[in-house]
Amino acid sequence: MKNLISMRDLNVEDIQQLLALAESLEKDPMQLDLSRRVMAAMFYEASTRTRMSFESAMKRLKGEVVAMIGTSGTSVEKGETLADTSKIMARYSDIIVMRHPLEGAARYVSEQVDIPVVNAGDGANQHPTQSLLDLYTIKKSQGSLENLKLALIGDLKYGRTVHSLVYALAPFKPEFYFVAPDSLRMPAYIVNDLKNMGVNFKLRENLDDIVPDLDIMYVTRIQRERFPDREEYEKVKNAFIISSQTLEGAKDNMKVMHPLPRVNEITTDVDSTKYAYYFDQAENGVYMRQAILATLLGEAK
Ligand code: CP
Repeated sequence: MKNLISMRDLNVEDIQQLLALAESLEKDPMQLDLSRRVMAAMFYEASTRTRMSFESAMKRLKGEVVAMIGTSGTSVEKGETLADTSKIMARYSDIIVMRHPLEGAARYVSEQVDIPVVNAGDGANQHPTQSLLDLYTIKKSQGSLENLKLALIGDLKYGRTVHSLVYALAPFKPEFYFVAPDSLRMPAYIVNDLKNMGVNFKLRENLDDIVPDLDIMYVTRIQRERFPDREEYEKVKNAFIISSQTLEGAKDNMKVMHPLPRVNEITTDVDSTKYAYYFDQAENGVYMRQAILATLLGEAK
């Protein structure tokens, strides 16, 4: 692994190594020392969890961080190109973690610089570090990644987290329910890829009858900012609202996950149930992102 741009670039061995290292780092964070290493965060788009957990991951391993948080106050405002900004950041750091609203931006930057690049979300395309922490979270809660039944719910059209997650889980024989309004269905190129990989999935527009079947309910936000047409957003914005009532009949070990932030798609009464797992999921981001940073910096033991 030189870069981490898309889940499609990782094989099962890469995934297993990262999962094992994240587990080991959660138990013993002192085993690695990234002092004298600098991570550049280049965030052209808003973030709380991804940026903060990467920073926390780096700092807890004694590394340093330089951060570009949005373009305000940077020379992007003067017209500096993404290529030039990246080349400069590469001279100030050892690894770039970047988020950008345009699909393909991270891969483009990886072609401009000689240091590792991590895609922390590129438009509606991919969010591989989220998927790796999701795998870690699922494995922790279920004891295995194999043969699980998962419902992916909400914005499957623009949701980069679910676009990454289906590729991440594909080698582990999942059964997916893709639950979305017709206008927010999983993109055809992903559906075709899954068919070619022999992955089982069903398309649904509601959760009727499937809750008792599930190991994981993966809920996503309907992302207002990705809709070209505000009216289309208004039609679907409340398509799925998961409450504690929705979870009646669920398996004891079923977990509700969400990459967060949530708006109204999971009501707060779910937070105190045994099913809520989204805050643990966010915490797991630190361990997985430590594993990713150490691996790409060549410091993983
Ligand atoms: N899950 C996630 O990407 O959250 P942020 O947008 O807050 O980074």
